[in-house]
Amino acid sequence: MTVARLALCKILSSHLPRLHLPSAFSSASRQMSIAAALKNSSIFRSQGLIGGNWIGSHDGKTIQVNNPATGEIIADVPFMGRQETSDAISSAYQAFHSWSKLTAAERSKYLRKWYDLLMSHKEELGQLITLEQGKPLKEALGEVGYGASFIEFFAEEAKRVYGDIIPATLNDRRLFVLKQPVGVVGAITPWNFPLAMITRKVGPALACGCTVVVKPSELTPLTALAAAELALQAGIPPGVLNVVMGNAPEIGDALLSSSQVRKITFTGSTAVGKKLMAGAAGTVKRLSLELGGNAPCIVFDDADLDVAVKGTLAAKFRNSGQTCVCANRVLVQDGIYEKFAEAFSKAVQNLQVGDGFTEGVVQGPLINEAAVQKVESFVQDAISKGAKVILGGKRHSLGMTFYEPTVVTDVRSEMLLAREEVFGPVAPLLRFKTEDEAIHIANDTNAGLAAYIFTNNVQRTWRVSEALEYGLVGVNEGIISTEVAPFGGVKQSGLGREGSKYGIDEYVEVIFDAVN
Ligand code: SIN
Repeated sequence: MTVARLALCKILSSHLPRLHLPSAFSSASRQMSIAAALKNSSIFRSQGLIGGNWIGSHDGKTIQVNNPATGEIIADVPFMGRQETSDAISSAYQAFHSWSKLTAAERSKYLRKWYDLLMSHKEELGQLITLEQGKPLKEALGEVGYGASFIEFFAEEAKRVYGDIIPATLNDRRLFVLKQPVGVVGAITPWNFPLAMITRKVGPALACGCTVVVKPSELTPLTALAAAELALQAGIPPGVLNVVMGNAPEIGDALLSSSQVRKITFTGSTAVGKKLMAGAAGTVKRLSLELGGNAPCIVFDDADLDVAVKGTLAAKFRNSGQTCVCANRVLVQDGIYEKFAEAFSKAVQNLQVGDGFTEGVVQGPLINEAAVQKVESFVQDAISKGAKVILGGKRHSLGMTFYEPTVVTDVRSEMLLAREEVFGPVAPLLRFKTEDEAIHIANDTNAGLAAYIFTNNVQRTWRVSEALEYGLVGVNEGIISTEVAPFGGVKQSGLGREGSKYGIDEYVEVIFDAVN
């Protein structure tokens, strides 16, 4: 396979500052004061951004943004559709002419300034992420560092979009290959990483001269709007970055049907990715798709138990299980199964669940009621087919959309928990006997995004990681995402790569000039 392999890691939270909040505040009043402070801050925006102007929807319709931990309304944002998206596309199209003509060094400076502003507003952005998405503040601050790193990386990479000179077949000819920006990009992003999934797309797009219309998730638009405000403060010219949100099907259709939009980049479900792929055919647009996964996490008998427990915990419970690269199936070899199940459950039991603003909390709420119902139905399906819940297995006593961190044993491949992404804090343990069997179970899925293996055998490391049909493989490591490595899937987990030197290829056309 020609997919990039990742064996090294970056611990996202390693460089996080600690945020001290007065302990006298109750969680609810602390949140209200944080929300009030954020609304008065220079980065808070609750309108769409079109051509450098903050704009409401043409018919005045709005939608509420809620805090998933409390249900409280944080803000109303415009419910935009086809008309506003067309305006945003026109602005991006107009801005493309001048933005693409800047030198790489000039674009690089704008991006670097944007990175600096994102980092100097790290705390406010982190609070905004926790408020609208629910992830614990420490993890949210980690996302700000991770998200900003794509802007820093592509500010540097802007200067390295090299072409080629090809030896000509005729003496008086010169053959050149140039890389030119594709044009206007439509970027459709999810709620689980309200900042990082935007910067991972917008960074390379802007670096090589494209302009962008971003549609963030309606569940988490405030972080996107704050990031866009900081882009304006960085001096990025009006129209280069536009943000519309609201009626997802209308916005999607407007982006797909416009011949001025030359590329769609999307992170989200495989089902929506397939619709976008079909829709893009009408105007033959380029596509990058980062879709769902069904990550196997394979623990071999020869693994270091502590390393395997720690790594699986990180791979499974990051963002309460709500990432495309979260371990979805924990395959444990016969000889270590009981020991691993016991040690892993103990570790899971220690995960503190609660409001993301409470000190010590590492598991926030799920994004909404539908997400909890999906988790419940998957656990129910497993129980009805003979699996055993050894920890958790129900809604948390905190109510709302909190779900207990859960471990289920005796899971088999035909159960929903093993076939589809649960996208929640449930770790299903499956048993296997041989290496071949583990590889067979791991690859027996249409998905191919991330996989993890735990082993101390060097030969096995190479053998298994190369046999796995996955775009990213973590070896003895549960957190493998970093801006410097290519992120993306094989099979139905998507097309293209994000981040790293490969990420910019998705936004350039390879143009050939023959000069006499
Ligand atoms: C995702 O869940 O789609 C992204 C996860 C990551 O960047 O690590």
